[in-house]
Amino acid sequence: MKLWTHCSVATMATDAAQAYGLIEDAAMVADGAMLRWVGPRTALPAELDAACTQRHDAQGALITPGLIDCHTHLVYGGDRAREFELRLNGATYEEIARGGGGIASTVQATRAASAEQLMGQSRTRLRQFLCEGVTTLEIKSGYGLELAQERKLLQVARALGQEQALDVRTTFLGAHALPPEFAGRADDYIDEVLAMLPRLHAEGLVDAVDAFCERIAFSPAQVSRVFEAAQALGLPVKLHAEQLSDSGGAQLAAHFAALSCDHLEWLSEEGAAAMAAAGSVAVLLPGAFYFLRETKVPPIEMLRRHGVAIAIASDCNPGSSPCTSLLLMLNMACTLFRLTPEEALAGVTRHAAQALGLNDRGVLAAGMRADFALWDVQRPAQLAYALGANPCLQTIFKGAPR
Ligand code: NIG
Ligand code: FE
Repeated sequence: MKLWTHCSVATMATDAAQAYGLIEDAAMVADGAMLRWVGPRTALPAELDAACTQRHDAQGALITPGLIDCHTHLVYGGDRAREFELRLNGATYEEIARGGGGIASTVQATRAASAEQLMGQSRTRLRQFLCEGVTTLEIKSGYGLELAQERKLLQVARALGQEQALDVRTTFLGAHALPPEFAGRADDYIDEVLAMLPRLHAEGLVDAVDAFCERIAFSPAQVSRVFEAAQALGLPVKLHAEQLSDSGGAQLAAHFAALSCDHLEWLSEEGAAAMAAAGSVAVLLPGAFYFLRETKVPPIEMLRRHGVAIAIASDCNPGSSPCTSLLLMLNMACTLFRLTPEEALAGVTRHAAQALGLNDRGVLAAGMRADFALWDVQRPAQLAYALGANPCLQTIFKGAPR
């Protein structure tokens, strides 16, 4: 067993009296990949103390759960710097999408890239997340939009999880955009998505199913067909909902007991109530809000009032959030959306785990995974406060330093 002392621990446990579940002068014991004991050092049972063969002095570091990014499109080809220029010359995200740019241009670049090229490009991005204490990261497909290409993306995502010391969760986002070869035939493309899903699932490549419900993407009726297919396979669903307009996506997703609804700038009261009843997490994406220069802030107060759990994610993607820093998202969640630093940190730990349907992480307590990060800060709020700093000293994944 391994022991860490001379640290304070932001456990993020909900039943704790202290903000952040903070324990000053804490001790943590890991047994293999799991935590055996977390508490005040003075309360550590003597026999556990004696059983620890490896003892680590954390030198006053703050320890938090390993960070969890529950919404990324990390694997893609090319970039969209040209589109960034177009937008700065007056074009809007929607106009570019309708003109065949946007997601479609990334689809073209992604299809043209080999698995090795995608792996190289995506690994570089992933390493940035790893440097900042991320131990679990979700990756969506959705830039292939045909069987072999979606398979390539999901295989690259799985391979990244195997070669790097973190957990990668994969999400099939076949219903992300209409591929050019299906122009004007969205329902036919949904048939195609329904054909891809069971095959990719049978290959062990799919942990969850997502869709983009929006006027520039798919209608609630079309998303509903995808979710029915997911449900039939026993796969959990999540949804890109109410990003650019209110299309009732949140209610639809809640009807399918979605793990999460993501973006939500245009979420209605009915949507929030439905999410609360279904236990769906609200995944807020301040990077996309910032990068698209949106002005409509997600209804934070409404989410609080309905008791909807809030997660924060990077949405790492080439079009709306070319971002590889979850710490920066913590800051932006506070500055742009007015979350408290404590809510923001819960958003990349406990609630992010919930948004992925994982109940063994996101909180530091006995029986949870020994995934945690050591930070060179005195107070948890410093993680959300700084812009562009990376105070991560070390990350422990499944009980071992990486
Ligand atoms: O989460 N909203 C849809 N999908 C991505 C953007 C993808 C892209 O523009 O390439 C998002 O913002
Ligand atoms: Fe997204």
